[in-house]
Amino acid sequence: MRFFLFVLVTFCLLAGCSSSTTKATLPTTDHLLIFAHRGASGYAPENTMASYRLAYELGADYIEIDLQMTKDGHLVALHDDSLDRTTNGKGKVFLHTLEELKQLDAGSWFNEQFPSFAKLEYEGLTIPTLREIFEEFGHDMNYYIEMKNPQQYNNMEDTLILLLEEYGFLDDVSDGKVIISSFNERSLRILYAMEPSLPLTKLQSPYEVKKSTKNTFKKISKYAVAVGPSYKSINEEYIKNALDIGLQIHPYTVDDPFAIEQLEKWGVTGIFTNFIDVSNPDVYIMLNQEGKFDETLFQTFSAAQITKKPPQLNLVGVNFILIHRDGFRYTGTGSVFHLLVHWTRPSVSLPTSGTPDPSPCCILFNSDRFSVSPPGG
Ligand code: G3P
Ligand code: CA
Repeated sequence: MRFFLFVLVTFCLLAGCSSSTTKATLPTTDHLLIFAHRGASGYAPENTMASYRLAYELGADYIEIDLQMTKDGHLVALHDDSLDRTTNGKGKVFLHTLEELKQLDAGSWFNEQFPSFAKLEYEGLTIPTLREIFEEFGHDMNYYIEMKNPQQYNNMEDTLILLLEEYGFLDDVSDGKVIISSFNERSLRILYAMEPSLPLTKLQSPYEVKKSTKNTFKKISKYAVAVGPSYKSINEEYIKNALDIGLQIHPYTVDDPFAIEQLEKWGVTGIFTNFIDVSNPDVYIMLNQEGKFDETLFQTFSAAQITKKPPQLNLVGVNFILIHRDGFRYTGTGSVFHLLVHWTRPSVSLPTSGTPDPSPCCILFNSDRFSVSPPGG
């Protein structure tokens, strides 16, 4: 079997997989698909079971999983090929066995880096294996799996296909339960040769996006059903060209509701986001005035109005602030000095030791800190 696959893959790679169409398809939906980027990684440590569970609870259509492989051949969920950024370990993943990786803390870094979303339960989270993720969610979840650094690992594609087979994900791939993505074209072509009906996405860096023409998309469409570009690099023409060739477009990583609205209008059918509820926050508002606190510049918007940027406001730095669940965040290009938020939903609790006034109150933001003050305060 292995020998047969080897011959087939080698033939396909040499021949450039010259089949004119791919058999794989993605199911059509009536809404923009939300791919939980590294799980609900805006709220919980990326690529951990906590992050995936939260993504499930928040109703993500897919969880995105970055795959690396251990020294002893286990597929694990981790973005970087080294342990340094998101665990208390050090060095390349491929130099460590699964048993060694399981000793590491993959959650505490998040609490330190994102105190407004920190939780005690994140301390000591472990790196999950893909098998553990499948065990946990089975067929109740859809998976968007990225082959990270496949060139560093032996037979990563074989290992993945065998696991997908074991968990019944290859029985009917037309349901789109599993999509595999990669920046690495060779890895995608290997997967295509092994399982042509498995939906594949060619990820593109900003540099690749810039160079992409209809011809590029034609080549990609020989093995993939979608392209995954960096959203900041694409425009309407890029999307039109890809759509004309029959590719779907799944941009990463979009946390800005205004950008989502624009991309959807252009024909994007799914987005990777760190904040699954980005298009449906509890409260929004915002505004900012650098340096000076001037209430006349502040305005409250209901959830339904979020897609309209307030034209009468001269926004400096911050474009918007979204208050989700028990945290908040803002997006902008400059530094924030003051933000005043009129609280419109008293049922939402704040990440503070004090209880906010249930009547509309104000929250004063100072850079990344805030305090609640009574109305007019
Ligand atoms: O899969 C889309 C996106 O995740 C690619 O970028 O670096 O977050 O894995 P990255
Ligand atoms: Ca990824």
